[in-house]
Amino acid sequence: MLPNMDYDFDTIVPRRGTDCEKWDRPIEEGVLPLWVADMDFRAAPAIVEALRRRVDAGVFGYALPPASWHESLVRWLSHRHGWIADPGSILDATGVVPALAATVRAFCGTGDKVIVQSPAYNCFYAVVRDQGFEVVENRLCRIPAPEGAEGDFSYEMDYEDLERKAADPKTKLLILSNPHNPVGRAWRPDELRLAGEICRRHGVFVASDEIHADLQMPGSHHIPFASLGNDFAQTSATFWSASKAFNLAGFQTAAVICANDGTRERIRRALRVHRTGDLNAFGFVAAKTAWDECEGWLDALRTYLHGNYSTLREFLRARLPRLHVATLEATYLAWVDTSPLGLPSAELAGRLEHTAKVKFAPGALYGEAGDTSFLRINLASPRAMLLEALERTAGFLKGTTACM
Ligand SMILES: Cc1ncc(COP(=O)(O)O)c(C=O)c1O
Repeated sequence: MLPNMDYDFDTIVPRRGTDCEKWDRPIEEGVLPLWVADMDFRAAPAIVEALRRRVDAGVFGYALPPASWHESLVRWLSHRHGWIADPGSILDATGVVPALAATVRAFCGTGDKVIVQSPAYNCFYAVVRDQGFEVVENRLCRIPAPEGAEGDFSYEMDYEDLERKAADPKTKLLILSNPHNPVGRAWRPDELRLAGEICRRHGVFVASDEIHADLQMPGSHHIPFASLGNDFAQTSATFWSASKAFNLAGFQTAAVICANDGTRERIRRALRVHRTGDLNAFGFVAAKTAWDECEGWLDALRTYLHGNYSTLREFLRARLPRLHVATLEATYLAWVDTSPLGLPSAELAGRLEHTAKVKFAPGALYGEAGDTSFLRINLASPRAMLLEALERTAGFLKGTTACM
C-alpha cells in the first residue's frame, strides 16, 4: 500500500481548548494525551464539506435520517467487507455503547451473566455491571507472535473456558470485540466460527462490536461475525459505526444490524425505553459521506497508522528493548507489556502522566487480565507527536528505573 500524499496526517491540529475529552479533561498543562480512542486528525475533507452544507441550511430541528443512510452502510459493508446485509435489518443508535447497553437490557433478567473476553474495552464491563448484571471473564490467552508477525506476542481465545462459561444457564450474552480492543486482534473466520458454535450450542447470543472493523493493518481482513452464515446472523447482532475509522465519535451515531426480526424488535424496544435510538442532525450526514466518498482517505489513514505502529516498534527495539508490543492486526491501539518495570499499570501510567507529561491508558482499565502491567498507546496522532511522547517515556524510564 502506498501512502496517498493527498491527505495530511502530519500537521499537528491544536485540540486543547476545543472542548474535547482527550485534551481538555483536567490533565496538566503540557501533557501529551495518547489515551482515549479518538484521533488527532482532521476529518476527511468531504465530510467537513457535507457538514458545512448542513450548517448552512441553518435550521436544526428534529432530524429524520433518510433511508439512503442505511443503503450507504449496506453498500460499504458489501464493498469493503463482502457482507450482504439487509437495509431493513438496521437500527439507529446514539452510539455503540448505548446500543450494547440496550442489548444487555433486552437479553438479561435478574441474576443473568454476560461473557466479556478480557482484557477488554472498559465500557463492556460498565454496560453489564451498571445495569445490575454479572460479567463473566473469558480471558484471552497470550501466545508468542506467529512466524513473520510484526509484534512480539499475540492472543487467542480460550475455547474450553468459553464453553464452560457459556454452558451456565444464567449466561445470556457474549460481547465480542471484533476486532479486539485493546489487544489488536482481527479474528480469523475459524476463530469466530469456533466461538460462535459454542455460543449457539448453549443459546448464548453474540453481540459483535465491530466499531474498529475498518481499521485493518496491511495483510489483515475484517470478517463480520454475521457473515459466517445465516445461523450466525440469526443469533447475533453487529454494532457498527463510522466513528472510529473516520474520527466522528462526537456525533454519537451508530447502527445495529440484526437479521432476526424478533430479536431486532427486542433491541429496538430497549433502545426506545431510554430514547437512545434517535440520531442527531449531523451524525448520519457525516457517516453517510464517509461511506459514500471517503474510501481513499481511509486507505491513506491506514497506511499512516501502520507507519506509526512501525515507528513505535522500532523505537522500543532501539531504546526500550525490554518493553514488548502485541502484533497489531487492526485498530490504532498498541498494547505494550511493561511488566519488566515491575509497576502496576495504574501507578506507571500515573507517574508517566505527572512526571514525563505523557498520558497512556493503564492496562488495569481493561479488566484484571490487563493489570499485569500493560499500557495502551493510542497511535492516531501525527508521527512527530508520537515520537515526542516516546522520547518523554524513554527519558523518564531511564531516569527512574534500573530496568532499562
Ligand atoms: C470496542 C469499542 N466499542 C465501542 C466504543 C465506543 O462506541 P460509541 O462511542 O459509539 O459509544 C469504543 C470506543 O473506544 C470501542 O473501542
